[in-house]
Amino acid sequence: MSQTNRNILLGISGGIAAYKAPILVRRLREQGANVRVVLTKGAKAFVTPMSLQAVSGHPVVDDILDPATESAMGHIDLARWADEVIIAPASANLVARLAAGMADDLLTTACLATTAPVILAPAMNQQMYLHPATQANLATLERRGVTLWGPDSGDQACGEVGPGRMWEPDAIVAAWLEWVAERSAPQPLAGQRLLLTAGPTREALDPVRFLSNHSSGKMGFALAAEAARMGAEVTLVAGPVALPTPAGVTRIDVESAQQMLDAVMAALPGQEIFIGCAAVADYRPVAVADNKIKKANARMTVELERNPDILATVASQPQRPFTVGFAAETDNVEQYARDKLTRKGLDLIAANDVSQPGQGFNANDNALTLYWADGHKSLGHSDKRQQARLLLETIADHKACQ
Ligand code: PMT
Repeated sequence: MSQTNRNILLGISGGIAAYKAPILVRRLREQGANVRVVLTKGAKAFVTPMSLQAVSGHPVVDDILDPATESAMGHIDLARWADEVIIAPASANLVARLAAGMADDLLTTACLATTAPVILAPAMNQQMYLHPATQANLATLERRGVTLWGPDSGDQACGEVGPGRMWEPDAIVAAWLEWVAERSAPQPLAGQRLLLTAGPTREALDPVRFLSNHSSGKMGFALAAEAARMGAEVTLVAGPVALPTPAGVTRIDVESAQQMLDAVMAALPGQEIFIGCAAVADYRPVAVADNKIKKANARMTVELERNPDILATVASQPQRPFTVGFAAETDNVEQYARDKLTRKGLDLIAANDVSQPGQGFNANDNALTLYWADGHKSLGHSDKRQQARLLLETIADHKACQ
């Protein structure tokens, strides 16, 4: 598939993998991309501006204070010109400078000045990659919407073995083609406001203990990411999970079911679609101890009371959005899912059989079956991103027919 006329700003930072950059430029141009190269100072020790100029067909820039390059295409123009910024290799030093929001050379300045998506192909010594500082920097960048491609694991130039090898140029080009294709796909939820819940809730027993469940948030976060990619304006109310916020999604973090209900009701006005994917605790302790409970007796009884039902509350609003629930079942899946569909007054319900290994709670895959008043559809077994896409497409179809 040719991607003629997409503008790629290719950043190259200092590392042995920079020797692969001319091949990467050539491969991207073979796919029809316009490539302009920005080098860091360190990169010039590994690859020459001359060779990159020859393969890219454009002058290679490396200095923000160079009046000649600034008068031709300055850093702001370069930042505006790019459809995407790919940095390969992205060294530990560059990752740290980007995470800190520095603008101390042309490449970091362009990254701050651009509204284009930024993609990094990290490459560094395995210890440097595994260092908590580098991991924290990468996590910070991901939270800000930066995409990471790699690294691979294997033999390193320094003689060590481990994670930190830059993806090969062909793998980067393949990922870029897939990435562009995803972004060019139709946007069936364009302009729609979508609110969803994800993850577990925690119901406190005392200051250090809580009741909860095994929800990781993966299904709900996949829905949020896909909905944003399909053009929706997404608000995600998340229980306590260790997942980065998907690009373009507004996230509200909560702990308990009551907090989740409050956040949902505050965000509800104007929403066109609501999806309850969170595994909300059905019960909470009647009393929360002020201090840590001591183990005074061999047995202990905790009195629980019902939590509010967030999904049913949304579905009962007079101005309600298209309301979708989930059903996590271990048996009689269809019967229990249909019962929830009717009892909670939903437009559609996505049922998962959570008794099966490799799907449901904390798995990367799922196998949803969708039920509505007069029909059903099985989505097969696939990763949660694909399940999310199929569910959202079905929601868009049903909503269009309302
Ligand atoms: O997070 P993952 O690890 O990726 O796992 C995904 C998942 C298994 C959690 C997800 O696919 C799923 O099934 N979510 C719903 C889990 C659940 O609580 O199901 P339920 O059958 O108990 O609840 C039915 C529906 O009512 C759900 O939409 C739930 O969000 C909602 N509910 C339940 C109780 C409550 N007090 N308020 C609610 O809104």
